[in-house]
Amino acid sequence: MPSSTQSTPLYCCPVCSEALFLQASGKSYACPQQHSFDLAKEGYLNLLPVQFKHSKEPGDNKAMMTARRQFLEAGFYEPMAKAVAMMIDVVPRQQQKLSLLDLGCGEGYYNRKIVEYCKSSEQLSMQGVDIAKFAVAAAAKKQTSTKFIVGSCNRLPYPNQSFDMVLRIFAPSDDQELQRVLKSNGHLLTVTPGPRHLWQLKEFIYNEVKAHAEESIAPLGFDRLTTQRISYKISPDAKQRASLLQMTPFAWHANEETQLALNNSEEFAIETDFILTLWRLI
Ligand SMILES: C[S@@+](CC[C@H](N)C(=O)[O-])C[C@H]1O[C@@H](n2cnc3c(N)ncnc32)[C@H](O)[C@@H]1O
Ligand SMILES: [Zn+2]
Repeated sequence: MPSSTQSTPLYCCPVCSEALFLQASGKSYACPQQHSFDLAKEGYLNLLPVQFKHSKEPGDNKAMMTARRQFLEAGFYEPMAKAVAMMIDVVPRQQQKLSLLDLGCGEGYYNRKIVEYCKSSEQLSMQGVDIAKFAVAAAAKKQTSTKFIVGSCNRLPYPNQSFDMVLRIFAPSDDQELQRVLKSNGHLLTVTPGPRHLWQLKEFIYNEVKAHAEESIAPLGFDRLTTQRISYKISPDAKQRASLLQMTPFAWHANEETQLALNNSEEFAIETDFILTLWRLI
């Protein structure tokens, strides 16, 4: 049995699923089967062994992560981040302390904003997971109060019923894993694109722009509690528009000509449209 410095395990071993314990050195976690994982110098833990990776660099790459950070740090999505923090503040709690997982946390922008804007931020115990190592390293470097790990949403390395709440902003998830890691009566807060999200940017790329649905798809095993739609216009400059494009899935459809046209265009307003939905585990 590894020497443990904690009683309730935070993580499960990604190889054998047994509990992982922080070792006496404080520098690594190990399971009873001796699978061991070192904490990176930035303080995060990589719980995505190479045999579970479908590519060398899964998730957002370094360029996408940098673009995302530059765009988000400019404050364009701050109103949405504030609304997320307000929703977290009003979630019914079983205890004073709320354990929160940011799923697909990227470079950690929303984690930082939650600390800044939640009235109850001292009562939050926050964790973040993403499959992209660069993003997790960047998140951990900027915010030491959150425990960040590299892992997959399809096989989350957390014990059953670990969290009171999961936050999923523009990120993928697996319904069964969501159900498993949430405590009973746990909450899920999703942010998904509304019908008009980034409409004018999409007009640059597609001949025919299709609107997203007005309601986000219900994850299996959850009841919809409340929905809030937030829309407003932003006017990023050419460099910020390029960053915005790079962090969206439609970047793949933008050829060089389109990118040049976007770069050379006069400043123009782009609609944002976010759907925030609060769900409760049935
Ligand atoms: C559109 S980004 C959103 C990031 C962050 N929530 C935000 O809004 O800034 C989607 C994120 O999901 C991550 N991702 C993709 N597939 C994943 C998976 N299977 N497990 C965990 N994260 C994944 C990507 O690496 C990326 O950081
Ligand atoms: Zn193990």
